[in-house]
Amino acid sequence: MDDGHAVLWSWLMDHAPVDTVRQALADGVVLDTWINGDAEEQVGAAAETRLVQEQERWVTTALTTGAIFPARPMPDAYVRTVFHDLLFSTALYAAHQAKGRRTVDVPDVEEAAARLRRFVARAPAGLTAAGVVFFVIATHEDLNAIAYYGRMAADDFLHGRLHRPWSPVVLQAQLALYHRLGWVDRVFTGTGDMLTLTDRGRAVVERLRHILAASGELAWRADNQRWAVFGEMDYDTVLARVAPDANAQTAQYLKSLGLRAGMRVLEVGCGTGRATVDLGLADLVGPGGMVVALDPSRTLLDKLEAKIRARGIRNVQVVQGIAEALPFPAHTFDAAVAVAALHFTDVDRAVAEMARVTKPGGLVSALCPPPEFDVRTIPMVALWFRPLTALAERLGVPFGEKNGLPRGRLQAAFARHLTDVVVTDLPRTVSAEDYRSFLTFVLKGAAFFQNILCRLPYHERGALIQRLEETGAAIAAHTTPAEKQAVVYNEAAYGRVPGA
Ligand SMILES: C[S@@+](CC[C@H](N)C(=O)[O-])C[C@H]1O[C@@H](n2cnc3c(N)ncnc32)[C@H](O)[C@@H]1O
Repeated sequence: MDDGHAVLWSWLMDHAPVDTVRQALADGVVLDTWINGDAEEQVGAAAETRLVQEQERWVTTALTTGAIFPARPMPDAYVRTVFHDLLFSTALYAAHQAKGRRTVDVPDVEEAAARLRRFVARAPAGLTAAGVVFFVIATHEDLNAIAYYGRMAADDFLHGRLHRPWSPVVLQAQLALYHRLGWVDRVFTGTGDMLTLTDRGRAVVERLRHILAASGELAWRADNQRWAVFGEMDYDTVLARVAPDANAQTAQYLKSLGLRAGMRVLEVGCGTGRATVDLGLADLVGPGGMVVALDPSRTLLDKLEAKIRARGIRNVQVVQGIAEALPFPAHTFDAAVAVAALHFTDVDRAVAEMARVTKPGGLVSALCPPPEFDVRTIPMVALWFRPLTALAERLGVPFGEKNGLPRGRLQAAFARHLTDVVVTDLPRTVSAEDYRSFLTFVLKGAAFFQNILCRLPYHERGALIQRLEETGAAIAAHTTPAEKQAVVYNEAAYGRVPGA
């Protein structure tokens, strides 16, 4: 057996890989199956040419300097893959950040190259840092998938069918390496070779998971998987099916704010403008007032802007940004509100920011989903989502996330930054009657289960969603209307900016 295992193992146990992956994230250099493996992205011909030029420049430097893994020179194809994959997924990520779309143009490739240059210049390992990021993420993807399935046909592995629909060209070299290091066993079963993990392999996958968790890569992956799906649903229609009285409740909440004509109001997390323009926030401040509607998602803001144009609305201004760093000077607004949005933010920072940009004595208010909402309070969903429950237990992660704030968190954030704080409960129905909309909402919209999905092998993510879609029909047919819904309590919080 190759004593390379001992060398790589002690390197994996060192803190350096954690720091390197963390540094890459900080520099916006990313690599992930859900970016690389998705078919929805588009790379224009000019961008593709630029990508290949840039990749070859890096490859030439890496090969002539013997970088990547100086102690263990890698085949040219491996080196080429490292740079292709890093540049490609970073360009997709940059495209999303800049335009809210996964369409890569030449400037996105330039941006990816600039990020990679910055990262390599800053990382203590220099050019090898690029190899480290690739090795940690790709090896985790490979070994984690074998661990997840228990065993995998060698042929499936070599084609990346179940776990890595990207860079299959290096899978043979990777497998040879795993064999040499004693991480993977090959078992002949009569129907073909199967791969299993050895004890060493299991220890390595545990360590790689730790590196991804400690560096923040897993959290980043869970969070950012959402951008792949959030804008890709008809939010307004789906919400109306899943929460049939949500619009009535939001309209009632907006009236409770006591806003007056002529006020300048900030709305944080406006999305498609359901509250802003559909349910009357802009009407409350009248033509002499102004609503500044802020959201990080370009896709959703485009939908709001289309509504504004179609309806000839003149008192709404759209701004792209996040609640935690509002791009406005102190005391700009008469009031700041957020509808169904603060549970996606760092709520303490968001409320602090809303208080900062509102005038002393002004209102800060938020309507939030039920705290710690568990979709299994709907009896049909408890039955239907049993595979997700089992997976959460097996992976040791919470069942759902982003499904409402922890109880008491909204009240505490308001109390910390505001005076005269009042929090009330507002009942509404949540329904799985239209099971397809329900699935779309919880998986693609509110994205409750990214924490689970981001830990699954690539193929299994899609397969799980498909299985849930298929079983949904049967379970819907065998449950009563009452078993398809539950009453939940949203929280409405109100406070005043001190110092009036
Ligand atoms: C459930 S939607 C609600 C949209 C809209 N307010 C409504 O009631 O229909 C949540 C919104 O929060 C936005 N969001 C997510 N993270 C955010 C952040 N850090 N700051 C501000 N908004 C954020 C999302 O882009 C999305 O538009």
